[in-house]
Amino acid sequence: MQNILVTGGAGYIGSHTVRALLKEGFKPIIIDNLVYGHKYVIKKLGNVEFIEGDIGDSKLIRQIFSRFSIDAIIHFAAYAYVGESCIDPIKYYKNNVFSSINLINEIVNFSKNQDRMIPIVFSSSCATYGIPKTIPITESTPQLPINAYGNTKLIIEKVLSDYGKAYGLSSISFRYFNAAGASSDGLIGEDHNPETHLIPLAIMATSKKSTPLSIYGNDYPTKDGTCIRDYVHVEDLANAHILGLKKLLSSDEKIIEYYNLAMGKGYSVMDIINSVEKVTNLKVNYKIGNRRIGDPSMLVANASKAFVELKWKAKHTNIDTIIKHAYLWHKKLLSKKT
Ligand code: UFG
Repeated sequence: MQNILVTGGAGYIGSHTVRALLKEGFKPIIIDNLVYGHKYVIKKLGNVEFIEGDIGDSKLIRQIFSRFSIDAIIHFAAYAYVGESCIDPIKYYKNNVFSSINLINEIVNFSKNQDRMIPIVFSSSCATYGIPKTIPITESTPQLPINAYGNTKLIIEKVLSDYGKAYGLSSISFRYFNAAGASSDGLIGEDHNPETHLIPLAIMATSKKSTPLSIYGNDYPTKDGTCIRDYVHVEDLANAHILGLKKLLSSDEKIIEYYNLAMGKGYSVMDIINSVEKVTNLKVNYKIGNRRIGDPSMLVANASKAFVELKWKAKHTNIDTIIKHAYLWHKKLLSKKT
């Protein structure tokens, strides 16, 4: 059984990937500092090895490397609030850059004394593209981030590329578009605190008790004036990690690769509201607000590189299904909290 260290495995995409790893017969070892990840998620994942700690803690990373024979790493652990990253960049550079480099340095140092370099799958983001000049976005679209969060992700992509060239470290960076939905069996799902993402907020806004959803601008150059995004089911994202991991584990050659993970289909904020209303049979209480700084009008990607090279196939391509899973999870989460 191969041991996979999953940083940030108690978080949203991380926890779904841990489940996919278990299903595929890998042994996940989670390290999470629980700043944004949840302990209850670890419990739901069943019998998994969990280490509460920080990837910036070199001593701890070294202990993990010597205690477990780590075959590969999937690195999710990061802060991911775009707005906050611009107000408090220190927090983002410290965690997403400094701590990530610490982890990667430890991989290289440890691997020097082994017969192979431990490969790494890295969670990058569509935020590295900034405001693209052409749509759909491909992996060769210029990366010009417009916020600190995007910069931190791009820096780590570059670190991985330089370390690959110099030390032979293999890596795959996945540039996610909008992760959405929840596990199809309702076990785990999205639980951010604070929540800032459109789909959970639109679902919450079906409740009369909740504050209305603010649509961040309806004067964009799109079909209905609201921003368009490319939503991907979180289980499909998780499965892409398994394929990336298998590629790294099965190759004798050094790999430094980048893949967009997207559906190639754009939905506007209004499309999402309409789908939430259809799925829940409830009205979304919304108002038109101001534009949010740094929001590109349209982010839609071409993910054919992942489809062709990794043979990645998305299972949940219908936006109503993605929203249905998010809704079922949301109801479960509410009943847990009340
Ligand atoms: N939106 C609203 N009202 C809200 C929340 C969101 O109108 O209350 C709109 C946004 O303006 C955007 C769309 O809904 O057009 C989706 O917004 P999200 O906040 O759900 O997602 P983003 O596209 O802003 O963010 C996603 C990822 C980030 C990543 C970013 C890159 O969640 O991690 O894409 O641009 F960095």
